[in-house]
Amino acid sequence: MANKSLAKQPSDLCVLVTGGAGFIGSHTCIELLDRGYSVVVVDDLSNSSQVALDRVRSIAGLAPDDGRLRFYEASILDRDALERIFSENDVDVIIHFAGFKAVGESVQKPLEYYWNNIAGTLVLCEVAREHGVKNIVFSSSATVYGEPEFIPITEDCPKHEATNPYGQTKSMLEQILTDLYIGDDEWNVVLLRYFNPIGAHESGLIGEDPKGIPNNLLPYVAQVAVGKLASVGVFGDDYPTPDGTGVRDYIHVVDLARGHVAALDWMGGRVGTGEARGLGSIAGAPAEDGTRRGVGIFNLGTGKGSSVLDVIHAFEKACGHELPYEIKPRRAGDIAENYAACDKARDELGWVAEYDLDRMCADSWRWQSTNPDGYATGVSA
Ligand code: UD1
Repeated sequence: MANKSLAKQPSDLCVLVTGGAGFIGSHTCIELLDRGYSVVVVDDLSNSSQVALDRVRSIAGLAPDDGRLRFYEASILDRDALERIFSENDVDVIIHFAGFKAVGESVQKPLEYYWNNIAGTLVLCEVAREHGVKNIVFSSSATVYGEPEFIPITEDCPKHEATNPYGQTKSMLEQILTDLYIGDDEWNVVLLRYFNPIGAHESGLIGEDPKGIPNNLLPYVAQVAVGKLASVGVFGDDYPTPDGTGVRDYIHVVDLARGHVAALDWMGGRVGTGEARGLGSIAGAPAEDGTRRGVGIFNLGTGKGSSVLDVIHAFEKACGHELPYEIKPRRAGDIAENYAACDKARDELGWVAEYDLDRMCADSWRWQSTNPDGYATGVSA
């Protein structure tokens, strides 16, 4: 079956967002709705809440019954559910976020991670293809670079073996989606390699809501700030970085969400030349309708590195009080430093991150301080 054409206005396009109730997914839904897209969310709520979608609706100014945002509670492993979703909705393109994402847990539960992330994506792509949808944006990660060969990291920096099953699934799914294009040149694939997404929507209504004790730095710091945890453990202060603590490229989740909208414009041939596909990407001749074919790879970061102590201090400014921290040993598998080269996304997608670390922390604090228990006690807006 021929691929669905993306050579239309956003208001005529329907996006299936897998994992759309999650942290990045919910913020992306808002940006899509703002641009006029119709959105169908499939999410099994295993690490997210439907309250997030109620709030997306209210931020986007949609009535509860507005069909521009539809929600299906289902796993992407559930072929029957996917069949129903594709039959009931005229989906044009998929933004695929759904997946397990805890690094440590993935080492303990490799079977669950490979099954959910890999098999889930295979089922999704197979059902999509049967319905003539061969357009997909995939939520990848800077983790595919492993210990990077150079910094700032460009898209043609060689990939390195991941140190955990979570990272393996990201890397393998990049390869699987690339192979789909190699086997059938109607596929239009974009792999977005995220650096470290933090922050929250400026409304304070949606944000990151990790289950249990957070593994990642920002949610941990936010919970110390709100008094739920006693002190931040800083994992190592003897790295070869300016203050000895690990350096990462933190990016505001709203900037990241907008990167997905830019990717859709690019796939539809509305922005960019397609020439920058060279950097790690596979160029396909554009389709007759001007839309792109092939595999586009883009880093989404700010290009700026911040240390663990920079983050703690920026958060102190946001919350207005000091945050206790203790230096701990290095965490296994961590690297000293990474940050992105973002030139390709700027030149091709016309996208640059706008918000700085202070703004990320201010927005994160607004969310955390008004929703100390995340969505658990949330009232549907
Ligand atoms: C981690 C994952 C990465 C994944 C990303 C998703 C690891 C090794 N990597 O990235 O694969 O794509 O999350 O968001 O888990 N830190 C502390 N104290 C803490 C937590 C973190 O000092 O309590 C430090 C870390 O050592 C690191 C920095 O903060 O230097 C950022 O850590 P984190 O937020 O976990 O992200 P990454 O490790 O970069």
